[in-house]
Amino acid sequence: MITAQMVDSPSPKQAAGIAAAEHVKTGMILGLGTGSTVAFFLDALAERMAKEGIEVIGVPTSVDTADKCKELGISLATLEEQPVLDLVIDGADEVDPEFRLVKGGGGALLREKIVAAAGTKVIIIIGSGKRVDRLGTTFLLPVEVLPFGYLSIRENVAQLGCCKPYVRNTEAGEPFITDNGNYILDCQFENGIADANQLHADLSQIPGVVEVGLFINLCHLVIEGADDGKVVTLQR
Ligand code: 5RP
Repeated sequence: MITAQMVDSPSPKQAAGIAAAEHVKTGMILGLGTGSTVAFFLDALAERMAKEGIEVIGVPTSVDTADKCKELGISLATLEEQPVLDLVIDGADEVDPEFRLVKGGGGALLREKIVAAAGTKVIIIIGSGKRVDRLGTTFLLPVEVLPFGYLSIRENVAQLGCCKPYVRNTEAGEPFITDNGNYILDCQFENGIADANQLHADLSQIPGVVEVGLFINLCHLVIEGADDGKVVTLQR
């Protein structure tokens, strides 16, 4: 089912973030994803809290998101304190017609996946250009790996059809380190990912792979912002 509505907003990501904030009800325990689209959602949520007095508790998926929530006055809890979440709001790098996702552009895929799996409902918010027919065609697939033996792990990842697994680096040229102390391999596929479910299963079997940025059966609703300020809502 697809519905469209007008949102008074200058950018597609902001439009999606504002629309997602409308799904929040007072008293909810929220899972809070990571990234620039989620940042717009948090701004819109904080505005609703101030104007309407709604109260929520958020479980953040990254240090960045926790810091932003603290700035905005959004109450936080850990997943240990709140193991069941009413609603999870997160971004994505790619979404396919089966509502499968590539995530991890911000490096938070491990906590994002754990939080999504704890969610009763998961809403994915995206700007334009992220819906794809085949995953892995517009974005590299992030795979979080242990630093121990990461070059050996990379060899095994490469065997699975990934022609180029790059070790993600910081601007300073050092390996990017996730909030969990791990590295990220960004994996390029020549013609995209032919069988996402199989690849997910195969990558997950490699010793040293901590998490794969393929999210399967973890998304109930997609809200996509468009350049004209409208949002399109896709219900799974
Ligand atoms: C972080 C993610 C983000 O949700 C994803 O990269 C989308 O980010 P943005 O909203 O900035 O486009 O998976 O690990």
